[in-house]
This record gives sequence, C-alpha cells and structure tokens, in this order.
Amino acid sequence: MAGVQDATVLAETRLAAALPRRWRHVQSVALRAAWAADRLSLPGDLVAAAWLHDIGYAPELAVTGFHPLDGARFLGRVGINGQVVSLVAYHSCAQIEAGVRGLADELAGEFSPAEPVLADVLLWCDMTTGPDGDHMRPADRLAEIRRRYGPGHVVTRFVDLAAAEILAAAGRVEMMLAHHLPSCPGRWPDSLSGCWASRTSDRPGVAGHSHRTKPGWTILGQRNAGRGRRGLMAWSPRRSRGSRLGLQVDLPAGLKLVEV
Ligand SMILES: [Fe+2]
Repeated sequence: MAGVQDATVLAETRLAAALPRRWRHVQSVALRAAWAADRLSLPGDLVAAAWLHDIGYAPELAVTGFHPLDGARFLGRVGINGQVVSLVAYHSCAQIEAGVRGLADELAGEFSPAEPVLADVLLWCDMTTGPDGDHMRPADRLAEIRRRYGPGHVVTRFVDLAAAEILAAAGRVEMMLAHHLPSCPGRWPDSLSGCWASRTSDRPGVAGHSHRTKPGWTILGQRNAGRGRRGLMAWSPRRSRGSRLGLQVDLPAGLKLVEV
C-alpha cells in the first residue's frame, strides 16, 4: 500500500476514536491536500501522506514521543510506500524538530528526504489548518502552536527555529497556487481569489503574505493608503448609492504586490 483509500482507513482506525480533535485536524489537512493535488497535478502520495502525517500521535504508536518518527516507523512496518513514509517522517520541517529533540541521527539514518515540492505542499496543508480543522494563515498557525505548548516547550523551541523556513515553504506553495486560481471547496471560509504580496521579489520561494478578498469581490490593485502605507482595493459588483464599495487591505511594510 498505500492508496489514498488505504491511508484514510488506516488514519481513521488509529486516530478517530482515540484523538478526535487530532482527527478533525487530519481530515481538513487531507481535504486541502486533495484540493491542492488536483489543482497542481500532484500525485496521490501527497494525499495519502496528508491522511497519515499525524498518525504517530496515536497512543499505541508513540514510542519516542516525536510523532513524525513514530508515525514513519509504524508506516514502514505496515508496508506503506517509501515516498509517503518520507513525507510523514519529514513533514512540516520535522528535521528541525528532530534536532531539537536529539533525534536527528535517527530520522536521517532511517528515512530518505521527501520530494521537495510534495513536502512543501504537505507543510502548507498542515500549517494552514488549525487543531480543530479550521483554516488559518501560516503565521497565525505558528502563533497558535506557541500558545498551545507554551514558552520553553520543545515544540515551541522548534517553532522558533523553524518559523522562517515554514513561512518560506508556505509562501512557495501559495505562489504556485496563485497561478491556479480560484475556487476552493470544503471548509475554506473564503475563495482563494486575491493577490500575492512578496517581501522581496516576484519569484517563488520568498516569504510573503497572501490576501483574500470576500467572495465575489475582485482586487483592483494597489493604492496609497496614506501616511506612507500601501493598500489594496477590492471591488464588489454591488454598488451602494451609486458609489463603489471598497475593501482596503493594508499591505504590510516592505511587501509589494506581485500577483493579482
Ligand atoms: Fe498536522
């Protein structure tokens, strides 16, 4: 194995009853992975890995307490294919957390790195999905993890070390997705229509922010928001008393609009 259906059953068996909150998160991550895989023409291994990425949290599988390693070891034992196992082993910058936990040699010795694009997209799915399956921006997700684990916790220390790489990877994926707009199904609160703002350039691979418009709204472009701020104007087809309804989104300092 594993096809997507096998992965779904395996994840549900290990997580749904034992860890229902984690299971809600996993279902949403998998939904986003299925959407991204379709949008970006990526293989089913991505979706299978999304279903299985947190299986190492299952109480009966937790040996080291480092869920990417525990999960990947289990998946290797039950015959899951190598690419899926690698994606799980290294998901969401697990190699950095392995270093914090003193498990870097075990991880690198037992598992090959995953294919980079698939790893980035899996990270994006995970880092845009909150613990209850709700949609979150990556920076908010990192803040949520820090709050949940608290100062000094090994996971918080990992997030502090990995934040730049996590945001960069998520940015690379949002750049890819920006060229495959616009509709997004399932639990996404907004459509993905909008624009992309980059810190330094219009190349993929740079950290940045995405901005989403309300459904049915169209980004018109940048405008000067005063006092040196830049902003975005969005346009609704509805008019109020003959005037435009505008939505202004502040563009964070140092970012420029590169995709509309
Ligand atoms: Fe996750």
